[in-house]
Amino acid sequence: MNLKDYTIEKTFNLFPTCVIEFDLSLHPDISLLKEIIEETKHLCNQHGLLSNSISSFGTFSILHDPRLNNLKDSIQLCLFDYASIAGLEKVYLTNSWYNIMSAGSSVESHRHYGSTVSGAFYPSFEFGSSNLFFNSPIAPCKMNDLPADGADNNIFSSLTTEINIKEGHLYLFPSWLEHGVRANETSKRIVISFNSDREKH
Ligand SMILES: [Fe+2]
Repeated sequence: MNLKDYTIEKTFNLFPTCVIEFDLSLHPDISLLKEIIEETKHLCNQHGLLSNSISSFGTFSILHDPRLNNLKDSIQLCLFDYASIAGLEKVYLTNSWYNIMSAGSSVESHRHYGSTVSGAFYPSFEFGSSNLFFNSPIAPCKMNDLPADGADNNIFSSLTTEINIKEGHLYLFPSWLEHGVRANETSKRIVISFNSDREKH
């Protein structure tokens, strides 16, 4: 008998997590969005999950500024696309906010309670800024199956992963998916974050 007297027929990637990237870099409202951020940043506060950063969280919903209606509508279409691809009921944008991160800032791992699909849109993302990391939702299920040395990028065994962020791009992910940002090294990293719900508010 041969040592390897078989072939691998198929590998199943069961129950994957849907994260979708959208390119909005040519959207006509991005410069206006940046102006509104400059205009309103004096209203921002510190946020408990963020260090060395300011956030509009809890003060006002940036995407509900009437001047940004077109951008909000585009993001809503992205949410509809996400729901369709992920096989979910439609979801509707609820609250939104922005975070301005500078050198040394980070965001602790967290989830967005009370939301269905969450999003992160990057109007300003200096080269070298920290990416967005996600923790494996099945990590709590694992018992004795420890990752092998050098298997950090193996989709089946890794416990955390990062996606490379691009300026002007939007990332949608399930709100239950734990995520965060490791220490940022650049002077300006701005993200618009938002939530959604199955009911239209
Ligand atoms: Fe978040």
